[in-house]
Amino acid sequence: MAETDQAVVEAENPLLEGLRLRRRPDPCALVIFGASGDLTTRKLFPAIYSLAVRRLLPERFAIVGIARTEESDEDFRQRMREAVEEHSRDELREDVWQELAAGMRYVTSEFDDPGGWERLTRALNALDAERGTNGNRVYYLAVPPGAIANLADELGKRRETEGWTRLVVEKPFGRDRASATDLNERIHCHFSEREIFRIDHYLGKETVQNMLALRFANGIFEPIWNRQFVDHVQITVAESIGIEDRAEFYEQAGAIRDIFQNHLLQLLALTAMEPPIDFTADSVRNEKVKVLRSMQTPGPSTVVRGQYGRGFVEGEEVAGYREEPRVAPDSMTETFVAAELYVDNWRWADTPFYVRVGKRLPRRETTIAIHFKRAPHPPFEELAAEGLRPNVLIVQVQPDEGVSLAIGAKVPGQGMTIRTVHMDFLYGGAFRTGLPEAYERLILDTLLGDATLFTRADEVDEQWALVDAIVAAWQRDRPGFPNYDAGTWGPPSAEELLARAGRAWRRN
Ligand code: BG6
Repeated sequence: MAETDQAVVEAENPLLEGLRLRRRPDPCALVIFGASGDLTTRKLFPAIYSLAVRRLLPERFAIVGIARTEESDEDFRQRMREAVEEHSRDELREDVWQELAAGMRYVTSEFDDPGGWERLTRALNALDAERGTNGNRVYYLAVPPGAIANLADELGKRRETEGWTRLVVEKPFGRDRASATDLNERIHCHFSEREIFRIDHYLGKETVQNMLALRFANGIFEPIWNRQFVDHVQITVAESIGIEDRAEFYEQAGAIRDIFQNHLLQLLALTAMEPPIDFTADSVRNEKVKVLRSMQTPGPSTVVRGQYGRGFVEGEEVAGYREEPRVAPDSMTETFVAAELYVDNWRWADTPFYVRVGKRLPRRETTIAIHFKRAPHPPFEELAAEGLRPNVLIVQVQPDEGVSLAIGAKVPGQGMTIRTVHMDFLYGGAFRTGLPEAYERLILDTLLGDATLFTRADEVDEQWALVDAIVAAWQRDRPGFPNYDAGTWGPPSAEELLARAGRAWRRN
C-alpha cells in the first residue's frame, strides 16, 4: 500500500494507529499573508495538503492567500498545486486536492491598501456564508519581520466580534530584546497572549518532541539526568548548506539570530527543563522559561564565532561567505557560533552545555548528546590501558532520526577487550508511518488552538537577553574573518573551547 493510502487508513481507523488520534479543529478560514513567498510554497501548502490527506483539517475550511503579486484565484490554486506536487511528502490525489482547492481564494493587495483590506473582508464573509467557516480566523504572517507590527495593528483594528481569531508569527521575532518587547507590546494591544502563536519550527519536529517523551515517559533517565551523572551536554545544529539566496536576511541576522536565539535555545531548554506538572501549554513553557532565566551570561572567552571561507562541502567546491551574491566583501556577519553555557540551578550547576551552530559545515546534523561521567573504577587492567569511553545518549534530531546509547561491550574472543557499541532506536525501523513535517504539526496545533509548541512572550524575552549579552561583547573586537574553511567543523577556537577542559566535540 502506498504510504499516503496507509496514512489515510490509519487516520480513519483508530484501532490501527492510536498514537495520534486528535479532535478535529473548529470550522475556520486560514489567511496567509505573504502567499507568494517561499515559505508558503515550500512549507505551508505542502503541510496543509498532508493534513488534508490525513483528514485532520476542519470539515468546514477555507484558505485565503494574500500578497502583492497580481494573481487570480485560479492561478493561485494552480501554483499551490505545483508546490504540493514538488514539495509534499504525499503524492497529489485529485479528490483531496479538489476538495481543498474549492475553498481557496486569493486577494492581491499591498498590506497598507485600504481597498485590499476591504476585498479580504468581503472574501472572508463570502467564505463564511458558502463554506460555514463561522467567522473563525487564523492569520498566518509569513512576511518579513519589518511588516509584522503594522499587519497586527491592521488586523487588530478590523477584528470581528463573531468567532475566534489567532495570529501566527514567523521567526525571527524582533532582532534584539528591545525590538521584541516593542513588537510584543504592539501585538498585545489587539491580541491576547493566548491568541498569539510564535513559530519556531524546530518545536514541530517529531524528534524534538520525542525529547519530552524520552525524558518523561521513561523512568530510567530522569534519576541520572543531572550534574551527578552527566559530565556535559553537546548540542549541534550543523548545516552543510550556505545561505542560499537569503543574503539580505542573513547579513542582518547571522547565525546567532537565525538559529542560536531560537532553535538552539529551544533544544537546550527541552534538554535541561524540569518535568512539567502536565503537558498543557503553560506548564511546559513555564519550565522552559525557568531554564532560560537560569542561564549564566557567557564571558567572551566562552563564545566563539566564525565565518566560512571557500572550501569543499560534500565533494564540491563552494564559495566563501564574503563571495556570496549580495554579501558585503568585508562582512563581519558570523556563520558559526559555539559556546560553553551554564544553567545555574540545582540540577545543572557546573555542568557545561557546549553548543554549536553553523553553515557550510561538513554535513547536516542536529543532535543532542548527553555525555555521562565515566565509570568510577575500571575493574580490568585492559580497560585502564585502553580507556573505556564514557556512555553517551545521543538524540539524533535529523537526519536518521532516532536515539542511540553508546555503551562499552566485550569484544568476542579471549581476554577482556572492551569496545564502544551503540544501542539504536531508529524511527524509520520502529514505526510504520513516515515522519510528519514540522509545519504539519504546527499548523494543526494553531487550528486547534494548542500553543504548547509555540514560543511565549517571556521565552522570547529571555532568549534575547542572552543573545544581546553575547552580541554586546562582540562589539569590542573584530576577529579575522573568514576563519574556517567551508566543509570543516568551524574555527580552531571551537575545538579549544572543549580541549581546555580535556573534552572534545563528538564525531561520528
Ligand atoms: C531556519 C533558518 O529557521 O531553519 C535557516 O532560517 C535554516 O537558515 C533552517 O537553514 C534549518 O531548518 P531545518 O528544518 O532544515 O533544520
